[in-house]
Amino acid sequence: MLSEKMEKALNDQMTAEFHSGYLYLSMAAYLEELDYPGFANWMKVQAKEEQDHGMKIYNYIIARGAKVTLEAIEAPQTEWDDIEAIFAHVLEHEQLVTSLINNLVDLAIEESDHATNQFLQWYVAEQVEEEENAMENLGKIKRGKNSADILFMLDAEFANRIYTSEI
Ligand SMILES: [Fe+2]
Ligand SMILES: [Fe+2]
Repeated sequence: MLSEKMEKALNDQMTAEFHSGYLYLSMAAYLEELDYPGFANWMKVQAKEEQDHGMKIYNYIIARGAKVTLEAIEAPQTEWDDIEAIFAHVLEHEQLVTSLINNLVDLAIEESDHATNQFLQWYVAEQVEEEENAMENLGKIKRGKNSADILFMLDAEFANRIYTSEI
């Protein structure tokens, strides 16, 4: 049994995950426009993973006999100054999501909702990975941003990312 407050908080987080997917898809579209199909591929895989993160919460809410409520998804940003700004935004966004997850864990602890706390630990670990990847990617882009050749190579590297379902 979820408290009303927890039900709302989980629905909000589900929406936040879908919004993350939408943001990364918007970044993918912009990268296609800039003619970086590899970076766009990376973002499209990222978008699918975020969709999975949302669905994982959807499934959990159902499993607890609570109500899934789909909320409006805010329109994402559609343009960035340059490629570095895109990857800096990814890191910033993941840091924001980490803080949202931390708030949820705080609520679960406050309510002694051990099941939800345990469920959320997957997200705690996932955010460590997300931030690590975002920092690594931003580092690569920063080092390569002034060289068309290095960006071309990085684009080819990012083209190799393959989606595997997280649910
Ligand atoms: Fe996520
Ligand atoms: Fe993420």
